[in-house]
Amino acid sequence: MFEPNKIIVTGGCGFIGSNFVHWVVDNTQCDVVVLDKLTYAGNPENIAGLPEDRVRLVVGDICDAALLDELVPGVDAIVHYAAESHNDNSIADPSPFLHTNVEGTYQLLEACRRHGKRLHHVSTDEVYGDLALDDPARFTEETPYHPSSPYSSTKASSDLLVRAWGRTFGVQATISNCSNNYGPYQHIEKFIPRQITNIICGIRPKLYGDGKNVRDWIHTEDHSSAVWTILTKGTPGETYLIGADGEKNNIDVLHAILEGMGQPADAFDWVRDRPGHDRRYAIDSTKLRTELGWQPQHTNFAEGLAQTIAWYRENEAWWRPAKEATEAKYAKQGQ
Ligand code: NAD
Ligand code: TYD
Repeated sequence: MFEPNKIIVTGGCGFIGSNFVHWVVDNTQCDVVVLDKLTYAGNPENIAGLPEDRVRLVVGDICDAALLDELVPGVDAIVHYAAESHNDNSIADPSPFLHTNVEGTYQLLEACRRHGKRLHHVSTDEVYGDLALDDPARFTEETPYHPSSPYSSTKASSDLLVRAWGRTFGVQATISNCSNNYGPYQHIEKFIPRQITNIICGIRPKLYGDGKNVRDWIHTEDHSSAVWTILTKGTPGETYLIGADGEKNNIDVLHAILEGMGQPADAFDWVRDRPGHDRRYAIDSTKLRTELGWQPQHTNFAEGLAQTIAWYRENEAWWRPAKEATEAKYAKQGQ
């Protein structure tokens, strides 16, 4: 059992990173240094109000080696969430994805090597490419890498760097690949919060392609408990898949949002499909469940979605400033 007293959480002002910081404060004694560049996706409000003696925010870039040399010696481990995370953005401009996802992970690995610290690298199931709708298979830790988009290929690159730094330099690192998250603090460029906030604004939701693409939804709080489990109980050098058996196609998710917000089932627009759009993701998380004893708590999707809709209704001041620019970007792409 690895019991860290203090960790760096990179990207701790983003969606999943900030939910993890809340989870750590609520469920452990561990203190946190959040290292975040505060890009368009990072918002210090996401961690506002957390106890100052437990959580410190350092605004900076994970590619800044000198800054890492200041911060890393003072902690027991790094939990690495920072990334450019949105597929559509990676198609419009891949360059920041190379900088943060590849160069950034390299700099963190080098800092861990210099200072003898542990790393947990947070990644995505999208590194495995996609599955056919009628394929009974799900992704496992043995599935070959086959990424489709600039986003997923840079995440795949970062995973491979972590594996190589473990084997060649002995860096003590674990990797997790998780499926699609939902919950509070998710940027409104992503599918679920985009449609919820569209409806609140009187804009019709937008569905790509034929709407039959499947994503394997997990509540972000379950992702947090899984990452903590892997950090503290996982074996360095190992990869663990995180998923909660939440496969749903996009049209069903959109219908659930429309129904939950009192809209007719056909009150949405079909829009241009995403180039290279992955068809289906599905996770087999047997290894994490059997070897480390993890279980998801939020397995009722309807309930989790209702709470998420309520959160966006109650926190309009949080997302409203980003709405116009986000929709303008999509409009330019015909989406
Ligand atoms: P996000 O886009 O909401 O947040 C990313 C955060 O990283 C932001 O706070 C941003 O300011 C910060 N950041 C970006 N570049 C940085 C840099 N160079 N230096 C320091 N900070 C930087 O992302 P998210 O959806 O919360 O995803 C977090 C992680 O989880 C990513 O690594 C992503 O690949 C992975 N992941 C996401 C999902 C999902 O469903 N969103 C699923 C599986 C895995
Ligand atoms: P997204 O939230 O971007 O996550 P990812 O690309 O990582 O899976 O998209 C989830 C699914 O929803 C994906 O199949 C694309 C689709 N989608 C839409 O149909 N409409 C939208 O407005 C968005 C943003 C996504």
